[in-house]
Amino acid sequence: MRPMAGFMTERLVLRPWTDEDLEALAAVFSVPEVWRFPLGRGLDRDETRRFLDRALAAQASGSPFPWAAEERDGGRLIGYVGLAVPAFLPEIMPAVEVGWRLVPDRWGRGLATEGGRASLAHGFGVLGLEEIVSIYQPENVASGQVMARLGMRVERDTTDPVRGDALRVLRIRRDEWEAAGVRP
Ligand SMILES: CC(C)(COP(=O)(O)OP(=O)(O)OC[C@H]1O[C@@H](n2cnc3c(N)ncnc32)[C@H](O)[C@@H]1OP(=O)(O)O)[C@@H](O)C(=O)NCCC(=O)NCCS
Repeated sequence: MRPMAGFMTERLVLRPWTDEDLEALAAVFSVPEVWRFPLGRGLDRDETRRFLDRALAAQASGSPFPWAAEERDGGRLIGYVGLAVPAFLPEIMPAVEVGWRLVPDRWGRGLATEGGRASLAHGFGVLGLEEIVSIYQPENVASGQVMARLGMRVERDTTDPVRGDALRVLRIRRDEWEAAGVRP
């Protein structure tokens, strides 16, 4: 399957990854706050390279993977937003999740919420999904706020089977999304 083309929100371009993203993404991922949940540290260049390789492989196979998130104004790569398959949590599979990870100097502007809205619209409107989940560590208050703002509701608290971290799973069904009016 060909990688999907990117699309725009009010302030973001959400687009497929390319090899040319490595430098800018390594800079974003090296910031410890960006990977505080779940790693408690930033990624090194090899880890970022592996992330990018997974992104390129997912795009080539048509499997959901978060898009590169670029600011429309200036074209800076500021992280990722989008859909993914949460295979790390077998108890909720099969599922598609929505997630986000942005560079700290862009936090608090509603960008994750804006990109998350567009991701839900893509999942329900384009992919025809019936429901979308989102998963976070309860200490990660900002991420939980984004999920709440998108109209998602808590489904269960559980534990990461590999890392042992406490996790909270939220969910939104298509009819709830339609009723919540959270389209972009
Ligand atoms: C989670 C993340 C993507 C949020 O991005 P963002 O663009 O700042 O999100 P938004 O501005 O859309 O919304 C953040 C909300 O959380 C609130 N918030 C942020 N930090 C908070 C905190 N420490 N305590 C309480 N609320 C907080 C903001 O006020 C805002 O809510 P409000 O608009 O109702 O006030 C960003 O913090 C991030 O990239 N974190 C690191 C990566 C990560 O943890 N990703 C999620 C993994 S599950």
